[in-house]
Formats: sequence, structure tokens, C-alpha cells
Amino acid sequence: MAQKQPIPAQQEELMTLIQRQGTRLRSELQAHHMSMFPPDAQKTIRNFAPAEAAQLLGIAEGYLRQIVSEREQPAPTKGGRRSYSVEDIAELRKVLEQGARGARRYLPHRREQEKLQVISVMNFKGGSAKTTTSAHLAQWLALHGYRTLVIDLDPQASLSTLFGLQPELDVGANETLYGAIRYDDQRRSITQVVRETYMPGLHIVPGNIELQEFEFDTPRALINKAPGETMFFARIGEALSEAQGHYDVVIIDCPPQLGYLTLSALTAATAVLITIHPQKLDVMSMSQFLQMTGDLLATVAKAGAQTNYDWMKYLITRFEPGDGPQNQMVAFLRSILGESVLVHPMLKSTAISDAGLTNQTIFEVDRRQFTKSTYDRALESVNNVSAEIETLMKGAWGRAS
Ligand SMILES: Nc1ncnc2c1ncn2[C@@H]1O[C@H](COP(=O)(O)OP(=O)(O)OP(=O)(O)O)[C@@H](O)[C@H]1O
Ligand SMILES: [Mg+2]
Repeated sequence: MAQKQPIPAQQEELMTLIQRQGTRLRSELQAHHMSMFPPDAQKTIRNFAPAEAAQLLGIAEGYLRQIVSEREQPAPTKGGRRSYSVEDIAELRKVLEQGARGARRYLPHRREQEKLQVISVMNFKGGSAKTTTSAHLAQWLALHGYRTLVIDLDPQASLSTLFGLQPELDVGANETLYGAIRYDDQRRSITQVVRETYMPGLHIVPGNIELQEFEFDTPRALINKAPGETMFFARIGEALSEAQGHYDVVIIDCPPQLGYLTLSALTAATAVLITIHPQKLDVMSMSQFLQMTGDLLATVAKAGAQTNYDWMKYLITRFEPGDGPQNQMVAFLRSILGESVLVHPMLKSTAISDAGLTNQTIFEVDRRQFTKSTYDRALESVNNVSAEIETLMKGAWGRAS
């Protein structure tokens, strides 16, 4: 048997240094976060003007005024003008649904024969806007009345941070999706790791570094497979089946790696959204990603994994319409990938990147912080992309859009 070697002093010094720097960075980051989001700070969705609220509910502004004045005497105003909170919109949607006649529906919940939509957002290229896309899409869907669950599958947990959670402080052991997919007897139901958010109809399974354990555990589990144990690729799907009655759609924000977590998300998915920044290096890296994904999916298929997507689409992200090389790259992608590329790209906007700096989305940040045209262009882009995805979802349910 090999003798344990003492660690050379120089190496030990290096290890201590790395640990000390890690601790220092962590505490500084926490202090920074605390200064931006003191513990009693509440993240909220901004209020909506009547025209926007009416549009979200799918009714005319006059009709909105009418139902509100019937319910509220006198109608409450903010700064002289009625504005609608996200809770107001959720409440009004219920009222409209109760009074709905004929085929008109205001709550778009899926019916029994319509299967849960699981959209995995992925690409192993870092910074291709997976997290930004997941967060905006999830909030847009919840704002439009869908019961939405968003899952942070990235050990780096940027999505959780965007939702106001500090992955190391606010998310404890066994409180990420790892808790629901682990192999040992500490596995718990996904319903125990789901949290409410500050938005009606939107729940989150937060992430943190603990998710990385799944990458370490899986090779071991493959060697010592217990009888009847679910294989790694089916574990997220299995976990989701325990919560599926509560949701219409699940969005999974994948890590920028093609590991076991991502493969399991690919197997659980009913649809795949690949985000792509239209630059040569990014597209080259995506082509590698696609080849590797194809190979890996073929391997897991041999082991019994079933992947059957309703749709698989590419979303052009951080697109700058005035940039010549980007336009050429988009034209190239469209010529090769055809209709697999979503019609609408997500435009690059300072409204989105600035909101991101304070861990906010476009639906949270105060729009007065930007010039009207900057904000409106970003919002229009989010609306167009999300509506296109909603149409795909409805198509998968066999509904007319
Ligand atoms: N449409 C946009 N306009 C401007 N900035 C954007 C836009 N989309 C994303 N960004 C910015 O790009 C950066 C990377 O985005 P994001 O974190 O969503 O990428 P990611 O693919 O999730 O990264 P990772 O691979 O590290 O998980 C962020 O700073 C984000 O604010
Ligand atoms: Mg990310």
C-alpha cells in the first residue's frame, strides 16, 4: 500500500494562500451584496402603467378601467395615475377568468392532456446569455399567467443571485436541485427545495456550489449502481415528475459545461433553447458543443435515455443590428440552421446589462433610469422573443396561438 506523503512546505503555503484569498474574496463580495441588498431590502417587480397592464391581461385599456372601477371605489392612484403591481395583475387575471364566457381564457394553465413544458437553456460557451434569457423568459411567462418554475442548475448560481438570493448564505445544504437528484438516502422531493419568489406564479429552485457534487457522485454511482437506482440522465426528469402538477412550464438554466447535470437536463427537457452570441469564436465553440451533445445523447440513448423534443431552437443573443460582422454571422447561421433559429434575436441593450449589475431584470429595474427609447427597445426585444417561445409552447400543446 502507498505511504501517505507529507505535503511539502512550499505547496502547503500555496494552498493556504489560495484558501485565504478565497475567504477574503467571499467576505468582500458578501459585504458588497449587503450594501446593495441589505437583508430587509425587498426585490420587486416594477409597477405597470394601464396600457401595459391591459396588454399583459389581453384586454382593452377601457375594459381594464371599467373592471377596476367596479372593484375599487374610488380607484387607487399612485402619483395621480393608477399603476398596477404584479399582484394586481395576477388578481385581475383571476377575476377575468371567473367572468369569462365561451372559449375566451385569461388563465392559460395547461389542461390535463397538455404535458408539462420543460425548456432547458444551454450552451457550453460561457456568457452566451443563458441566465439572462432564463430569468427574463421565466418572469415573462409568469406575468402572462403561466405557473412557472425556474431551476438554477449552475453551481455558480448566477440565476439565484439575479433573484436576490446569496447562494452561499441563503441557500443551505440540500436546498438546491442536488437535494432532489442525489443518490444517497438524503434525497428529498423537489417540492421541498422549491421556493416562492416575489412574483405570483413564479417559483425557483436555487443553486449553489453543492450542485457540483452531482458531477463527482455520478461516476461512482455508475460503477456501484444499486439495483433499481435511476441512472444519472433520468434523475432530473424523475425529480420533476414529483412537482409537475403544480406547473405549466419549467425553465432550466444550465451550467456552461457538458457534464452530467446538463445531460440530465437534456434528457428531462421537452424543448431545448440554445443561446448563441453571433461571433465567430462563439459559433465555432457552439459547433463543437453540438457535435459533443449529439455524441453524448447517442451514448445515453443506448443506455435507455429517451429524448424527444417538441422543438429545439437557437436564440441569437446580445445582437447589435449595426454591427457588420455580427449581421454576417447571423445570416450565416440562418442559412445553415434555417427555421431552427428564432425569428427574433435578443438585442444587446444597456438597459439589460445595467439592470444586471444590480441583480435586476428589465421587469424590476426602474425604467426612469434609462432613456425611454433604450428601455422600450429592450423590453420589446424580451417581449418578442418570449412571445415566440410561448407560441412554440402552445404549438406543443396543440393549441392555436
Ligand atoms: N441582451 C443583452 N444586452 C446586454 N447585455 C446582456 C444581454 N444579455 C446578457 N447580457 C450580459 O452578458 C453577460 C453574460 O450573460 P449571462 O450571465 O446571462 O450569460 P450565461 O450564458 O448565463 O453565462 P455563464 O456561461 O457564465 O453561465 C451578463 O453580464 C449580462 O448582463
Ligand atoms: Mg449563466
